[in-house]
Amino acid sequence: MSKPIYVLNGPNLNLLGSREPEVYGHETLDDLHQRCGQKAKTLGHSVEFRQSNHEGELVAWIQEARTDASGLIVNAGAFTHTSIAMLDALLACPVPIVEVHLSNIFTREEFRHKSYVSKAAKGVICGFGGLGYELAIEALAATTSPG
Ligand code: DQA
Repeated sequence: MSKPIYVLNGPNLNLLGSREPEVYGHETLDDLHQRCGQKAKTLGHSVEFRQSNHEGELVAWIQEARTDASGLIVNAGAFTHTSIAMLDALLACPVPIVEVHLSNIFTREEFRHKSYVSKAAKGVICGFGGLGYELAIEALAATTSPG
């Protein structure tokens, strides 16, 4: 059985669609889930798409991805800028990791310019809204096999 690409979403991303739409757009998390599923399918992959507001749960899922995923896409939300626990879990995860943000974190407040996640990521995509998730799947599909 081939392993899915894990797509992990951090705090407040469950509010997409109604949360600051001028920053994050009008797509909901369900819309993003569908987009990811469709994109992965066209490339012969599948996704395991999850969201949590809890740092520990995200850490547990990253640990799970060590054995159960073929690649990992992470939008850690605000934990991006604070979580050494997530960074340590990501550094222990041998699968390729792509960091995604809907908004361009570098044109926003200074505290968003620092990412702990980036240290463990093969690449970073930000500023393209939901398209960024599709681009991340494309990047992983180009560098990993679903088997
Ligand atoms: C975000 C950017 C973060 O700074 C913010 O805390 C989020 C969303 C993004 O997708 O643009 O929650 O990760």
